[in-house]
Formats: sequence, structure tokens, C-alpha cells
Amino acid sequence: MHLTAASTLLFLSTALQASASLLPAWYFDKATSTTNLAAAPTCNGHAELCSKSYADVVYIGAHNSYAVGDGVSDNQAVNITTTLKGGIRLIQGQAHENYGVFRSNESNPSELSLCHTSCLLQDGGSLEDYLRSVRAWLNENPREVLTILMTNPDRVDIRRWEAGFNSTGFNASNTWWPDNKRADGSYGPSPSRDQWPTLGEMIDQDKRVVIFLDYASDRDQVSWILAEFDSIYENPFDQLDLPFNCSVDRGRTEGTLALLNNNKNTQPLGSTVAISTPDRNATSTTNSADGENGIVSTVQRCASETRTRATFVLVDYWDTPAKNGVAEAAARLNNVSRPGSAKDMIPSSASRSIFQHPSALLVPHLAAAFALGLALL
Ligand SMILES: *[C@@H]1O[C@H](CO)[C@@H](O)[C@H](O)[C@H]1NC(C)=O
Ligand SMILES: *[C@@H]1O[C@H](CO)[C@@H](O)[C@H](O)[C@H]1NC(C)=O
Ligand SMILES: *[C@@H]1O[C@H](CO)[C@@H](O)[C@H](O)[C@H]1NC(C)=O
Ligand SMILES: *[C@@H]1O[C@H](CO)[C@@H](O)[C@H](O)[C@H]1NC(C)=O
Ligand SMILES: *[C@@H]1O[C@H](CO)[C@@H](O)[C@H](O)[C@H]1NC(C)=O
Ligand SMILES: *[C@@H]1O[C@H](CO)[C@@H](O)[C@H](O)[C@H]1NC(C)=O
Ligand SMILES: *[C@@H]1O[C@H](CO)[C@@H](O)[C@H](O)[C@H]1NC(C)=O
Repeated sequence: MHLTAASTLLFLSTALQASASLLPAWYFDKATSTTNLAAAPTCNGHAELCSKSYADVVYIGAHNSYAVGDGVSDNQAVNITTTLKGGIRLIQGQAHENYGVFRSNESNPSELSLCHTSCLLQDGGSLEDYLRSVRAWLNENPREVLTILMTNPDRVDIRRWEAGFNSTGFNASNTWWPDNKRADGSYGPSPSRDQWPTLGEMIDQDKRVVIFLDYASDRDQVSWILAEFDSIYENPFDQLDLPFNCSVDRGRTEGTLALLNNNKNTQPLGSTVAISTPDRNATSTTNSADGENGIVSTVQRCASETRTRATFVLVDYWDTPAKNGVAEAAARLNNVSRPGSAKDMIPSSASRSIFQHPSALLVPHLAAAFALGLALL
């Protein structure tokens, strides 16, 4: 998808608008479990999930979880900590070179920033700042299992990713990875659906994080950053129509887990201008638990078409619609009670603009973005 200068300007002009979104209060009370001594220990909020395989739980995922705001390159309304508090257990992101515009320092050893397409267009801050927030939340919530899926379109060397994760408290000891290296140095098959540990096992071993990278992982160098497409397949992303297409697009289906891209895009300038942006209006349908194109039906339909039930369901603006269909959908798909009632709604201030740099830097960035003819997705 290519942005023209004119269309970019048009859409960037909407970027400064703020929006408010609502999170139910029970999220903050219950979704992040604190263990009650009198009760059975919970796993991701529910005792029933402790004996379930990681692969058989359905996790709602925040697509581009660092891209917060109303700009053309944004996909979420609330920051990563609020996202985790809200019950999201797959966080997805994309990292790029920051072109040296934002000087790296000892707090950013990877020298990567979380950016959509290019840091010249959208900059969600350093990889490490984001991971530090995630680590802090994990430390506060010792009975939660989390999946981190990063995309690496620039094929940045795995050692730099390792440096980013290592320096923020993620390593071979506290992430889950298959110990499938053979004596001859080759790797056995990656875990099939039924070979993943249960959530209870992962929590007991404090290996509660699974990290996937789409491109340029290398387990000989970093055993614990897994190759996404060894373990996961995806249906097409950048879908413009409903119902969603369930077919395998990237990855292979045999034995792997399914990631359902459950976010609809729109072409706001019409089909002749190849620019697509998240269709925020559609989230009232696609993020709902109910309805023909709601999450429960889509997961069930795709499961019947592909014979693999989605483990991961990636959404835009996970906190809309306000009644939080994604939590309801996850509860139903996981056959657990919804944690509490949504009757108490509290407002949470939402977005920040995509312009996160001093304004003096904007003009050269945008000019460079236009010159590069950036792809948005
Ligand atoms: C994330 O958002 C919440 C709610 O708006 C806010 O209280 C918190 O300070 C934000 N965290 C960061 C790191 O910006
Ligand atoms: C180091 O880099 C990070 C990420 O770019 C930034 O947030 C921080 O302010 C920088 N620290 C110093 C001392 O420059
Ligand atoms: C990450 O930590 C491991 C173990 O502590 C160490 O062997 C490795 O060199 C570290 N990697 C980086 C890039 O710092
Ligand atoms: C792994 O990270 C944790 C912090 O999350 C740290 O306590 C531990 O020492 C690290 N282990 C290794 C081998 O580096
Ligand atoms: C559904 O996605 C598959 C895989 O990308 C593609 O081959 C197929 O043409 C798509 N179907 C429709 C109706 O677009
Ligand atoms: C969303 O809905 C509003 C009100 O119906 C409409 O004005 C707007 O054009 C829609 N936006 C998109 C991207 O479809
Ligand atoms: C869902 O849970 C209920 C009660 O906890 C149980 O009776 C039922 O068999 C479960 N269904 C599935 C499909 O696991």
C-alpha cells in the first residue's frame, strides 16, 4: 500500500484529534489476577485454564500495540500497560531502525524503535521502553501468561533483538521455548498443537512469556526467540471486506497454531488510491462477541474451514466497542465465566498523537516519508 504525499497530509491532519475510550472497571479488578489464598490458583484469571494447553486457549491480541492514537498509522487507543491491564494476552509490534534521528543510548541497546512502516512516519518509542513496561506488568502479575509477537520487516540481526529483550529482563530462563535441539545441532520439529505446555506448567516454571519474531530469528544464536512461521500460520492481513477470509496466507497449517487477523481496513480515498487504514467503524462489528462477523462466529467459521481453531485473534482498537466485546468473546471461546460484570464503566483518557517528536523534527520526517513513498502496512 503506498501513500502519496497528498493523501498522507490529509490523513495526518486528523492525527491530532484525541479520542476517549471506555474500559470497564472490572478489568482492573479482576482480569489481572492476584491470587486469593483461599481459592485455587488461577492461570490468566481462571483456575480452569491452568490445565489447558497454551495452544488451546484463545488469546485476544492487540495489533500494533505500540501504535496509539488516531493517525493513519495507528491501530490502538490505549497504551501497552492499559492494554495488559485490560486482559489482552498477545501483544504485537513492529520495530525498525530509527535512522539515528533519535540517538540511541545505553537504555536502547537494540537501537530499534517501535514504528509503523517507518520511524519517519510513526514512532512509538524505543523497543526497550515498551518492553520495560511489559516486564513491569509481568512482575506484578505472576500468574499471567503472555505472548509477544514482533515483526522485523528490516530483517534486523537477531543479536540486536536479543539485546533489547535481555536488557529489559527477558531471557532463556524466563521465556518458554521448545528444547528441541538435537545432538547433531539440528532442530526437531517445532511443537505441534498438543505438545505445548499447559498454562499451569508455564506459570509454575516462571516461563510465562513466549516470544515470536516473523523474520530473521536464529535459534542457534538465540534459542528463545522463536520463528513465528515454525509455529503459527496466519490468514491474510489488510482485509477490506467482511466476512474475513480464513485461508492460510503466511505459514503452513500442519500442526501449527492459527493467528486470525481479525481487523478490517478501509480505503478512505476509494479503491483507486492504494492506501488503507483501520476501519474504526467496523470494530463495533468485528470486535463484538456476537453477530455473524463478531469474534465468536468468525473463530468458529474459520475453525470449520481450516480445521484449526485460532489460538490468537488480532484486533485493532481492542477497547472498542465500549462494552468490550473482545473480553466477552475470549471468555466464551475459553469456556470460562466473564470476570465480573461490565456495569461499572470508567473513562480512560486515550490517545496521543502520532507526532511524538519535537515539532521541529516533523517537517524533515514527513518530507523524507513522502520521498520514500512509504508502504503503510
Ligand atoms: C498509560 O495510560 C494510562 C491511562 O491513561 C496512564 O495512567 C499511564 O500513565 C500511561 N502510561 C504511560 C507509560 O504512558
Ligand atoms: C535514551 O533513549 C531513550 C529511547 O530513545 C530515551 O527515551 C531517553 O530519554 C534517552 N536517554 C538519554 C539520557 O538521552
Ligand atoms: C543476554 O544474556 C545472556 C545470558 O545472560 C548472555 O549470554 C547474552 O550474551 C546476552 N545477550 C546480549 C545481546 O546482551
Ligand atoms: C533473566 O531475567 C531475570 C529478570 O526478569 C533475571 O532475574 C535473571 O537473572 C535473568 N537470567 C539470566 C540467566 O540472565
Ligand atoms: C483468501 O486468502 C487466500 C490466501 O491469501 C487467497 O488465496 C484467496 O484468494 C482469498 N480469497 C478471497 C475470496 O479473497
Ligand atoms: C464511520 O461512520 C461515520 C458515521 O456513520 C461516517 O461519517 C464515516 O465516514 C465512517 N468512516 C469510515 C472510515 O467508514
Ligand atoms: C465448559 O465448562 C462447563 C462447566 O465448567 C463444562 O460442563 C463443559 O463441558 C465445558 N465445555 C467445554 C467445551 O469444554
